[in-house]
Amino acid sequence: MEEMARVGATKGGGVNRLTLTDADKEARDLFALWAGDADLDLRIDEMGNMFARRSGREDDAPPAMAGSHLDSVPNGGRFDGSLGVLAALEAVRTLNDESIVTRRPIEIVNWTNEEGPRFPPSMVGSGVFAGAIPLEAAYETRDSEGARFLDELERIGYRGDAPCTPRPIGSYLELHIEQGPVLVNEGVQVGIVEGIFGLTWLRVTMKGERDHAGPTPMHLRRDALVGAARTIAAIREIPEKLHPEFVATVGELSLSPGAINVIPDEVTFSVDFRHSEPELMNEARNLVEEAVHREAERENLEVEIQDVGSSTPTAFDAGVAQAVRSACEESGYSHRSMWSAAGHDARYAADLGPAAMIFVPCVAGKSHSEEEDMDWEDGCRGCDVLARALVKMADS
Ligand code: HGY
Ligand code: MN
Ligand code: MN
Repeated sequence: MEEMARVGATKGGGVNRLTLTDADKEARDLFALWAGDADLDLRIDEMGNMFARRSGREDDAPPAMAGSHLDSVPNGGRFDGSLGVLAALEAVRTLNDESIVTRRPIEIVNWTNEEGPRFPPSMVGSGVFAGAIPLEAAYETRDSEGARFLDELERIGYRGDAPCTPRPIGSYLELHIEQGPVLVNEGVQVGIVEGIFGLTWLRVTMKGERDHAGPTPMHLRRDALVGAARTIAAIREIPEKLHPEFVATVGELSLSPGAINVIPDEVTFSVDFRHSEPELMNEARNLVEEAVHREAERENLEVEIQDVGSSTPTAFDAGVAQAVRSACEESGYSHRSMWSAAGHDARYAADLGPAAMIFVPCVAGKSHSEEEDMDWEDGCRGCDVLARALVKMADS
């Protein structure tokens, strides 16, 4: 974990490993090296997803999978994603040490572009794998500098030959830090993640009229930033109208021209909202659209709402969750069931086979920041539960 955290390390103790950058390549190369050391066969698909495979007695049975991602958000944390990939590797190394052969083959996965900020949407490697996102659409995505996904994938040498198409999986497990306060606040050691919130990403553009900040009377202005600011404030009020666990975030904002004495004529901002109930997700979408159009009319602006990506709320598999629960009981770890409000590749793996997740606490529940931290004992407990549950699923 500490060696992987040196890849893309930031001064603030986090990592900057945006997908398909040199830092992502370096992390991938390191994972490939360690997978080779563990005698795993590495297969890379056309989305750059990496599958490190350990044979099973019935080697053509659908594999028991475990994994996560090695890419990060800008200046993110050094545990988000990498814990799940490296704990799965450690579990397999332990099986090697103990000469345990499982019925099914085991595949450790590093999914491409779980995070999404550089090439939205998030979870695109697993999304294409599950058949939920078209490969061509992913390939043509461009980042804020205009770089194309496919060109960057080829540039780092990770456009593999294996098809990135749905195939049956025996099971999927993902260990992840919770990235929230529940386990820490309750003093519980392990979260048995039985479902995952749906998430919707939109991009809103509001267009007004560029003009002089001095002589232009207030009543004649079409100020795109004022319209956007009122809309963003209205979006902030939506969750409490819907449900205490509903969340909405505006994380990106850009404006033009960005000069102190010019009335802004164009603003673009992102909207991210999430919940476990599909009806509330639909209602939130309507409320966001209402706010956008209401404030646009008030300031006489044109608007555009672009769908960036969405995934539906998904219940995970009770059988896999039970394997996690039994593993906790065997080891005597306190545990509780919960849902994930963060997106994870398990969401799409669940479309191809029974899946569930394992959460361990992170310090103060903080994540997607350089302060992200985890006690090693928590990580070890998570790894222990993952290894035990993985063997149960690989022998099921
Ligand atoms: O956005 C998410 O929840 C994930 O970290 N990509
Ligand atoms: Mn993650
Ligand atoms: Mn993340």
